[in-house]
Amino acid sequence: MDPFESFKAAQKKGWANFAPLELQTTPCAARLVKRAGVRPGQQVLDVCCGTGVVSVTAARLGARVTGLDLTPELLQRARENARIANLDIDWHEGDVEKLPFGDATFDVVLSQYGHIFAPRPEVALAEMLRVLKPGGTIAFSTWPPELLVGRMFALTASYLPPPPPGVSPPPQWGDPNIVRQRLGAAVKDILFDRAVMPVPALSPAHHRAAMERAAGTMVRLVAELSESDPEKLAEFRGRYDALAAEYFENNVIRQDYLLTRATKL
Ligand SMILES: C[S@@+](CC[C@H](N)C(=O)[O-])C[C@H]1O[C@@H](n2cnc3c(N)ncnc32)[C@H](O)[C@@H]1O
Repeated sequence: MDPFESFKAAQKKGWANFAPLELQTTPCAARLVKRAGVRPGQQVLDVCCGTGVVSVTAARLGARVTGLDLTPELLQRARENARIANLDIDWHEGDVEKLPFGDATFDVVLSQYGHIFAPRPEVALAEMLRVLKPGGTIAFSTWPPELLVGRMFALTASYLPPPPPGVSPPPQWGDPNIVRQRLGAAVKDILFDRAVMPVPALSPAHHRAAMERAAGTMVRLVAELSESDPEKLAEFRGRYDALAAEYFENNVIRQDYLLTRATKL
């Protein structure tokens, strides 16, 4: 299999149990939708929609929403979330690197901690911009490399085999300089903002246990090391907890993120 396709197949498997973490990403979804200025009647695409927290939030405002994700288990929950809210959303199982939509279809394209997992940033971004109308809004939330989640990605990656050549680390999307460079001449009026996702936890280890059950790369790492090298897994867990402890106060893990918004030329 093509290395990028096997990479995505592993992603799909790893994200299958992400649904419980939708409670963490729900408040941030409202912030992203607000920042993007979503209005009633607009055609909105939510890429890597997971259980549909951004999609449902935008649809509640009266937008006509399409949500797309790689992972069928999460789309099943997304359908359920839309049904509970009595909203009609168009769900698609698919790949952000190959969007099944025509050029200039959407007024707004959104991604919350999503397209950062596509192996090739330039391919994913080109697709997101292709389906966006000129004058339309692209907006996304991402994890800065120097803050907790970015540092956790780096730690986790250091315990896993290297990805295929050409796969970019997700936290690069949290660096405004890199984002500006990637968006390049395709957009105008780039706006950056910072926000915090407060994650309730009883201890750093309590937080890690939840991530081990639900977050793609962590699921994979635990599956691999618990069989092959339990000592290395114990070392990883110790380092993870020490890192999370730096951001833990009042039963909350503080996860800072970057919001980006721009207008397609
Ligand atoms: C951290 S979750 C975020 C989900 C959702 N946007 C939220 O805020 O709750 C990352 C999502 O990206 C999806 N994903 C990863 N790679 C993808 C790809 N190449 N194409 C589409 N979705 C992808 C995963 O299935 C997962 O749902």
